[in-house]
Amino acid sequence: MHVTFFGIGYVGLVQAAVLADSGHDVVCVDVDEAKIENLKKGIIPIYEPGLTPLVEQNYKEGRLHFTTSIEKGVKHGDFQFIAVGTPPDEDGSADLKYVLEVANSIGTHMLEPKIIINKSTVPVGTADKVKACVTEVLEKRGGNIKFHVVSNPEFLKEGSAVADCIKPDRIIVGTDSDEVEDKMRELYAPFNRNHERIIMMDIKSAELTKYAANCMLATKISFMNEMSNIAECVGADIEAVRNGIGSDNRIGYSFIYPGCGYGGSCFPKDVQALIRTTDSIGVNSEILKAVEAVNFRQKGVLFNKISQYFDGDLRGKTFAIWGLSFKPKTDDMREAPSQVLMESLWNAGAMVQAFDPESMDECQRIYGQRNDLKLMGTKEEALKGADAMVLVTEWQQFKSPDFRKMIELLKNPVIFDGRNQYNLNSMLEYGIIYHSIGRMTSSV
Ligand SMILES: NC(=O)c1ccc[n+]([C@@H]2O[C@H](COP(=O)([O-])OP(=O)(O)OC[C@H]3O[C@@H](n4cnc5c(N)ncnc54)[C@H](O)[C@@H]3O)[C@@H](O)[C@H]2O)c1
Repeated sequence: MHVTFFGIGYVGLVQAAVLADSGHDVVCVDVDEAKIENLKKGIIPIYEPGLTPLVEQNYKEGRLHFTTSIEKGVKHGDFQFIAVGTPPDEDGSADLKYVLEVANSIGTHMLEPKIIINKSTVPVGTADKVKACVTEVLEKRGGNIKFHVVSNPEFLKEGSAVADCIKPDRIIVGTDSDEVEDKMRELYAPFNRNHERIIMMDIKSAELTKYAANCMLATKISFMNEMSNIAECVGADIEAVRNGIGSDNRIGYSFIYPGCGYGGSCFPKDVQALIRTTDSIGVNSEILKAVEAVNFRQKGVLFNKISQYFDGDLRGKTFAIWGLSFKPKTDDMREAPSQVLMESLWNAGAMVQAFDPESMDECQRIYGQRNDLKLMGTKEEALKGADAMVLVTEWQQFKSPDFRKMIELLKNPVIFDGRNQYNLNSMLEYGIIYHSIGRMTSSV
């Protein structure tokens, strides 16, 4: 089937490559010329496990094409996927400017019927806006070409995006047309063989499903972070509590890890956007506002612990930061807790020596050259002479470090762990002063 993707980011590139790999003929359009030129040379703009060989192979075999030509893209696909960013507007609502730009382009160039698919995360009512935009452009052209707008939100997780697209938990399709339902089923048939994964619904419900899913997950995280603060105050161990509640299958173990707050390109902006939607329709979403407030507070927890330990004077101190990406297995630093921490440390006059397995270039891109930021080649180099180590992202390679070597390299044997990776008793045995989230501080 002929498919076009507009917006070749984390979602567009992965979905396009996976669809091409199943045999579809996919054209990828992006306005970022450098990105498209690099993709043609085999340079993949993001780190995502398994993505590079998938893109290379499908490009080589002629099922995946890259272009900046909007016209070419509109001409190619019977299915026109919109997968551009929907960043927060000034007031936190989703900015639909890129989505409507693409809708406008499709309306301008289409010469035959199209199925336009909103894959970007967009507020309820956006399919109507896309439809109105395309209709208006078509009317101006004096054309009367049939088209449908479908909501097909994406649920991939950065870090396992390829696997998630190959074996999705569910494929949500919101449409008001039986004909389109059949075509969407055909498009996704390669991913729907093992069992029925496609869930059909009306367009607005599909749009809301995406927000409901992300807000539910963000709620679980903020709830657990709230519990971790309570645990600390009453002298309980949040990890014991986590095990205790996770074993209840009505609650489950996933997404109840306490930590230094959620980040990424989705949860923060989607929670905010749904709050703005509820405000605009006169509904006061007390839960979502609390989820956001708790997360904001939680992102400051590591800095507060550090500041308290050093009696509020961090001037001239150096901190080794392990992990910059908002979660492991991605290079994405959007809304990452590491950014909040580093900026607070810099404001307090401290130095940062950071290491991340994949986000060093991204960090350099965001902050450029600064005297108070050193990007180090290994996790050990980051420790050299530092007053304390701060673990912000739970990459696999940080889980079982050589603690003796760490003690030798650090100026003081002090660890602030934003992800509760280490055992309290081991820290005591090593003589490490260990601060974590929702647990007692171990100290000799
Ligand atoms: N990243 C995730 O994990 C994830 C998961 C599910 C859903 N989403 C949603 O999917 C959407 C895309 O997210 P992303 O992380 O892939 O974004 P991204 O920022 O990585 O990529 C967006 C791309 O769109 C391009 N673009 C902008 N305007 C364009 C235009 N007019 N024509 C063609 N290309 C254009 C940009 O140059 C960029 O390459 C967002 O709505 C996001 O909320 C993201």
